Amino acid sequence: MCSIIGYLGISSAAPIIVKGLKRMEYRGYDSVGVATFSKDHINVRKGVGKVLEVNKTVKLDELSGTIGIGHTRWATHGMVTDINAHPHPSSSGEVAIVHNGIIENHEGLKKELQEKGYTFKSQTDSEVIANLLQYNYDKTKDIKKSIIDTVSQLKGNYAFVAVFQDGTLGAARNHEPLIIGVGKDGYFISSDVLGFVEYTDDVIYPDNREFVIIDTSGLKIFDFEANPVRHQIIKVSKEFADSYKGEFAHFTLKEISEQPTTILSAGNSTQLEMDLASDLIRHAKNLYITGSGTSYNAALIAKFLFSKYAKIKIDPLISSEARFSHDVFEENSILIAISQSGESADVLEAVSIASKAGSKIISIVNMMTSSLVHQSAISIGVNCGPEIGVAATKSFTSQLVVLYKLVDKLCNGCLELDFTKVSEAIKKILSNDSKIRDVARLLKDVPDIYVLGRGIHYPIASEGSLKLKELTYIHAEGLPGGELKHGPLALMDSDSFVLIINPNDSTYNDTLMSAKQIKARGARVIGISDIPSDVYDYWIDIPSIGESLYPLLEIIPIQLLAYYAAIEKDTDPDYPRNLAKSVTVK
Ligand code: AGP
Repeated sequence: MCSIIGYLGISSAAPIIVKGLKRMEYRGYDSVGVATFSKDHINVRKGVGKVLEVNKTVKLDELSGTIGIGHTRWATHGMVTDINAHPHPSSSGEVAIVHNGIIENHEGLKKELQEKGYTFKSQTDSEVIANLLQYNYDKTKDIKKSIIDTVSQLKGNYAFVAVFQDGTLGAARNHEPLIIGVGKDGYFISSDVLGFVEYTDDVIYPDNREFVIIDTSGLKIFDFEANPVRHQIIKVSKEFADSYKGEFAHFTLKEISEQPTTILSAGNSTQLEMDLASDLIRHAKNLYITGSGTSYNAALIAKFLFSKYAKIKIDPLISSEARFSHDVFEENSILIAISQSGESADVLEAVSIASKAGSKIISIVNMMTSSLVHQSAISIGVNCGPEIGVAATKSFTSQLVVLYKLVDKLCNGCLELDFTKVSEAIKKILSNDSKIRDVARLLKDVPDIYVLGRGIHYPIASEGSLKLKELTYIHAEGLPGGELKHGPLALMDSDSFVLIINPNDSTYNDTLMSAKQIKARGARVIGISDIPSDVYDYWIDIPSIGESLYPLLEIIPIQLLAYYAAIEKDTDPDYPRNLAKSVTVK
């Protein structure tokens, strides 16, 4: 999941492109590169590392020309090297491309092109697009025809932007995000509105299997069968432009600190959709809920809330496993798909499998401009604003709030939800984080940590361990408390650190029993609870609140613990190694 961008206008392209890449850096940050067209020549500059670092050394934003393309990389094919960084010029240098996605048949195409005399410098799958465009252009001397011939030969999910020797920009999408920005003084093409929202909020969403040609005569869109296509210009909300860290050292800490506010606005923008969704759910033949990573942990919480309070059976499904259990979906099934970005390839695949079986899709999404929204019958907005930190924090609690509101509707208000109280309680935890920082210092050199919870708290243990893995690179494991004695207890000794999620509710005594079993093996126990206990070596206090709402509180100290431990370990909290914010490849 890389970020790609293109600009054609009257302003200098390189600074605009570099700014856009910086905003989309969360999509991939192994390497970065820019190519511009000026004086009949395509100039390429690129390097390994993050946007600001590479720009300092190779001066990406000083490239001349008012037409250009750019890329930040998350490596899938070929090591993280300068030569594998994008943009990739064709062997004659008359076309250069940036690509997001995977070209599944790149080896075969590369071999054919090499036999025709085209040379390759990199180990990437992407470079084949540049030489294939060149080969088709050499045959026809027609840019539109060369794009049509090229997309007819490419297999896989992809989006690319190309700059041609005459300054024309071409771009195509096949199951990967691509958005056009219509500015006062130029056109933008990007993986994400964040790439250009600073300059315009007028956007066009090309559909799947469409391509775009932009030159000085303007913008043209075609489908892969060469038919001209017209799309509406849509205004996106300017909130996307508000992705600054402000006084915070990192987006992750800023986004953790926004939760007292974001949980109050979660789901507010789509009340009608909430009503329509609950009606659909009431009449569903069977109900499934899916997501990846943090969004899947929210789906696990939903299972508890639906069965306990709405007395409705719902089956959680890990999105990346949907292709191996596609026979569950049928006519009148409902699939609820949860996704912050709305672009996770695994979630989109689960949705397409369910849709093909005649199931209806309800999605719970933060990025309401995303592909998932376009593939859903009903979309409920999580509404927590742009989330830049790769580790999902505020989007998780806002996803939970939407699920609480949905279940409360289905059980006719049985939950007596009071999110103002939750918001105040979160403020208390955030303002009193000194104990959390102390514990974070202890985790600096710890190789493993276990996170325990029972009942509805087990998914929080799973989410907490995910945050610790992503932010600190510590091997962290979420465990259902009762499973300890069936094996994991063998891991416990005086070097072990165990985080116990143990609020004062129906799971309290059983979880405290598990904590005692662990303590008896000499392990250090960190208790997250609204009740102190001698069993805990370190007690992290959370305010008391209604039984059903504890998940919204108990995750906050774990988010902070992971963040501060990341600082102690000097990892980059916003851009953890080997990860990216939206996983757009399968
Ligand atoms: C969570 O912190 C991770 N960034 C990751 O697991 C994420 O939740 C997952 O990739 C799903 O993303 P989505 O919600 O945008 O679909």
